[in-house]
Amino acid sequence: MKKIILTFFSLLGLLIAVVALLLASGTVSLDGLRMAANVMFGVEGPSLEESAAHQNYELPPGFALQIFASDLPRARFMRFTPAGDLLVSRPHSGDIVLLRKDADGDGRHDGRESVLMDLNRPQGLDFYRGWLYVAERDKVGRINFSTGRAIGPYRTVLDNLTGDGNHWSKTLRVGPDELIYLTQGSTCNACIEKDPRRAAMMRFRPDGREAEIIATGLRNSVGFDWAPWDGGLYATDNGRDMLGDDFPVCELNLIEKGRFYGWPYFNDNNVPDPDMGDDPFADQRSPTAPVHGFAAHNAPLGISFIDTSGWPGDYQRVALVALHGSWNRSSADGYKVVSLHFTQNGIEQRDFLTGFHQDGRIFGRPVDVIQGPDKAIYISDDYAGAIYRVVVADESTTTSPTARPVGLSTNQRESAAPDWLQQADAERMAAAGEQLYAQHQCGRCHQEGENPVSLAGLSRRMGYTAVIDALQAPQAPMPLFPLSTLEQRQLAVYLLNHDQ
Ligand code: HEC
Repeated sequence: MKKIILTFFSLLGLLIAVVALLLASGTVSLDGLRMAANVMFGVEGPSLEESAAHQNYELPPGFALQIFASDLPRARFMRFTPAGDLLVSRPHSGDIVLLRKDADGDGRHDGRESVLMDLNRPQGLDFYRGWLYVAERDKVGRINFSTGRAIGPYRTVLDNLTGDGNHWSKTLRVGPDELIYLTQGSTCNACIEKDPRRAAMMRFRPDGREAEIIATGLRNSVGFDWAPWDGGLYATDNGRDMLGDDFPVCELNLIEKGRFYGWPYFNDNNVPDPDMGDDPFADQRSPTAPVHGFAAHNAPLGISFIDTSGWPGDYQRVALVALHGSWNRSSADGYKVVSLHFTQNGIEQRDFLTGFHQDGRIFGRPVDVIQGPDKAIYISDDYAGAIYRVVVADESTTTSPTARPVGLSTNQRESAAPDWLQQADAERMAAAGEQLYAQHQCGRCHQEGENPVSLAGLSRRMGYTAVIDALQAPQAPMPLFPLSTLEQRQLAVYLLNHDQ
């Protein structure tokens, strides 16, 4: 271990030079991210210096930002348990994590534990009468949570879902009508789906029976929620790619049963798609236009209507929406949380939390935004591996988010050496990892080619567990390699101690 630390430091000088060179040469461009589908990665992870970026995150006056968790790589969707703890899904790690509520008032969670593991890319989650429902890539399951922890078997409620192609993640919510609502994205950018449940919203009874498709033509509606004032069901939707920087808009749709929302034949405000030709079912349906357009490629994901009583400023009839940020665009856009104001004159969009994108560099990507039982706002970030908490500022918090030291710190990540490493010869494992890296030609995507996915600074954004997760459940286009547990560990030791 000592040796490896020494090697690490001797390589550190080199690393700093390489990083400086990359930054100076402008290699950190969004073009480098095109091949990267929905996940941003070609940029170096937040370095200690860069993590100070969080101190520049901006909120409207009267709110303060806290870091509720900074040790959750790939955090996606969130839901509060009846006891007020926060559950977070992590599709890439196949688990659901519980963050204990902040009882000591320091703004951070009071510990974490795993609730469910070894699931197939779980994303959507919600509670119904003591059951925790989870939407996996291929099914919906549930487990008894009535005692405040998961007990008994995890059982399938709805199976045989398809999880192929793009947009395999599924979002699930329990409706005010006590039915379970599920959205599934399209397999592709623009095409005709074989499985009619893809690019659609469906609902079913809590026991899985009477499943029906209620809305179609939704390319990738990752977030949805019901307006408290009239029960309207609003869903975000990601517009298609490859039609330029500013077309089509990403959508907010008002979902009504039986409606067709356009994809793949219409984009934006019902503009016919240039690649698809006429809708063959045009005599049976006409497309419903979005009620609001987010800027093209902004990738709206989670949405929640907010109880804004006690909020400073003008917030009535408000939903918050997490914009994950663009990849198919020549300059980055999105990467923020916005508030939607439902007024008599329509829906108005304002910035709420910004700063994830500064000077051409990406520090975080918001995924889900929900309100806690404490009325604070919680925002998950699958790039920084963090959960932010936004509170109304008072004497006990600071009035400005800039005044509070909120930088992510490396030692809060999962970088502590796991048990298996303490008993191993790290130097030999790293050497074996290096050989595996060469043997499987990892460098063909991570070092060579036009837009390599940089693994520089990996140790600052991932720990051993997270790297092993990434090898076990790689995100397309990275293939699944036939690696033994030992080989995965060897690669992790190599990657985390010899920055590429
Ligand atoms: C065909 C191209 C390709 C090959 C080959 C490949 N990768 Fe990847 N890898 C990717 C892409 C693309 C991502 C980003 C996936 C995502 O998060 O969306 C990635 C992500 C990763 C990550 C997570 C990095 C992060 O910041 O999230 C690790 C670790 C990784 N790869 C290691 C490896 C190793 C080790 C090998 C060889 C055994 C390998 N990769 C081979 C394309 C590839």
